[in-house]
Amino acid sequence: MDPEESKREAAVAAADLARDGMTIGLGTGSTVAHLLPALAARNLRGLRCVATSRRTEEDARALGLSVEPFDALERLDLAIDGADQIAPDGWLIKGGGGAHLREKVVAAAADRFVVISDDRKVVEALTPPVPLELLAYGLPSTLARLREIGEVTLRDAPPSPDGGVIADLRADVEHPGRLAALLSGTVGVADHGLFAPELTSDVIIAGGGTLEHRRRRG
Ligand code: 5RP
Repeated sequence: MDPEESKREAAVAAADLARDGMTIGLGTGSTVAHLLPALAARNLRGLRCVATSRRTEEDARALGLSVEPFDALERLDLAIDGADQIAPDGWLIKGGGGAHLREKVVAAAADRFVVISDDRKVVEALTPPVPLELLAYGLPSTLARLREIGEVTLRDAPPSPDGGVIADLRADVEHPGRLAALLSGTVGVADHGLFAPELTSDVIIAGGGTLEHRRRRG
């Protein structure tokens, strides 16, 4: 099946979870590009959205969705986003579009964080690279610290909306929790693209004409 059709199917299923009056975090990427029209088409009343990138913000507004800065809401009812890799234990790699810092902030603020994907993102085990967002201040010293963990490449991309430098790390990701802790403890790393299973409430995967909806237990 066409991967775009699978992305659309997953996006439509996630849009169906929205209700009148909800506060919703909108992710970034080609899968979320299918979510925005699906959400707008539901014509829900009183939705308040926050966006994880300028692209999403502009596209959502163009469809008539109400998008506000993420500076007044303390929590979100729902957040919906794509992923680059989905491991069997629920660990994700995100940040292919360089928006992982804002995406993690939004996911952590949401009562329900829903990941949408076509089935090509489902992997047996995570593989590098892991996207990073680094503070521009003191960048050479941060890179020197990161080189003790793995090989870092600066991405040929504009700075993030928060002024961060986007990079990719090639390191052993067999134990994602260990690597995530190491990166979170590295001064100068604003955030990384490893998303722990506890962040995610639902994963909706479409492909081959089927839709799988995984819900976190407990
Ligand atoms: C952006 C992301 C995206 O959600 C991820 O890269 C998946 O993108 P796409 O839906 O285009 O495959 O993390 O930072």
